[in-house]
Amino acid sequence: MPRRFVRMGAAPNCSHHYQRMKTLIKNSQVVLPTGVEAVSVLIEDEKIAAVDVAAQTVADEVVDAAGLHLLPGVIDDQVHFREPGLTHKEDLAHASRACAKGGVTTFLEMPNTKPSATTQALVDQKYAVAAQKSLVNYGFYIGATPDNIKDLKTAQNIPGIKIFIGSSTGDLLVDDQDALERIFAETTLPITAHCEDESTVRANAERLAGTTDVADHSRIRDHEAAMIATRRAFDLAKRHQHRFHLLHVTTGAETELLDDHQGLLTAEACTPHLMFTSDDYQRLGTLIQANPSIKETADRDQLWQALRDNTLQVIATDHAPHTLEEKQQAYPRSPSGMPSIENSLALMLNEVHQGRLALTRVVEAMCDAPARVWDILSKGRIAEGYDADLVLVDLELTRQVRNEDQLSKCGWSPWHGTELTGWPVRTWVLGHEVCRDGRINADRPGRPAQFDHARGGYWATES
Ligand code: DOR
Repeated sequence: MPRRFVRMGAAPNCSHHYQRMKTLIKNSQVVLPTGVEAVSVLIEDEKIAAVDVAAQTVADEVVDAAGLHLLPGVIDDQVHFREPGLTHKEDLAHASRACAKGGVTTFLEMPNTKPSATTQALVDQKYAVAAQKSLVNYGFYIGATPDNIKDLKTAQNIPGIKIFIGSSTGDLLVDDQDALERIFAETTLPITAHCEDESTVRANAERLAGTTDVADHSRIRDHEAAMIATRRAFDLAKRHQHRFHLLHVTTGAETELLDDHQGLLTAEACTPHLMFTSDDYQRLGTLIQANPSIKETADRDQLWQALRDNTLQVIATDHAPHTLEEKQQAYPRSPSGMPSIENSLALMLNEVHQGRLALTRVVEAMCDAPARVWDILSKGRIAEGYDADLVLVDLELTRQVRNEDQLSKCGWSPWHGTELTGWPVRTWVLGHEVCRDGRINADRPGRPAQFDHARGGYWATES
């Protein structure tokens, strides 16, 4: 991978006449693991070389970040970037630019592409494409099927195994108890799942057959469907003593099950379920149709409470773009999912502005916790020796989300017209500036994230 060097003096042939590129970020408020402090941060090549250096430190580039906050880059552990096979909706070049603009420096991508990523070879193909096209760092999950246990047991260099215990976009589904028992018993990689009970969803869909009202989506994929599947997954994890991360929690009741995590269970909330309730169907219709479905105000309030008290550890997006044309089909032909990677950090900073969430909690849930859940090396914190994946944010900047500004290939946002206060303004990936005031610098690709699963996950690492 090419490194970034600065040529020193006029000594043409010797590599030792090159020195590492140094960038000093001074005068910002820095969100450190210990709290927010006014310190200078020195980037050297791809790493954070020092925190709290003198503001006069000599560097090749000095960034005066007065009035801004410096955060670790966001790690989004649940995205659907649609490559290969569904690139009319999204692709790695567009999505990773959207990441750079939104302050997301690492993404972990789901296997429900076309074909589904269910073997090492198929996962490796995604890594190869990302090495060419992704502006930010990346990782790709392997998808479980009822009969790919061999692939799941030998998979390497990946965050973990994704199971759809309940079908969604694509054809991945493992609903059979024996197959689930085997996956939890025989694999060692961390497991994560989409939890909605298939037979409950089918029975509800039959009961409501013929409906064209998108509000029925939340009656078909109802509280019970989520709860049954989540209970089932937690039971498997506990009996097999297998680490398990619950994706996109939507109901208050599921958050209550997380009190008994036994050092094995972690969970996340996603932007759609944190920002919308079933009341919003009237305004936004199928644009906010998602799986699991958007739930009620009481559920949303419980999700926020669970985030504040660390019952939920992670905030992700479940960025799941479809074209506007696809979304505008009448329910139930309309597909589930919506884009949000480009605005997720701004949405959360706006919550900070409104006093609903502390800035330090945003950083824990969007940066530090995903790194710990997935055993990602050297990411998620501003600390010496960590990767220089960084984002400067302006907590006072107010701006509207607009469809025409979206870099995501689908070109629309469910937050179109919404005014948010608190925006990312400058992003570095491995010490390389990838976005400044909305302008993308695409001259160097990101890298695969490194996973060290011997670390043992969230509960085995220190906060
Ligand atoms: O709404 C969703 N859309 N939920 C999922 O689980 C998958 C996603 C997609 O890939 O479209």
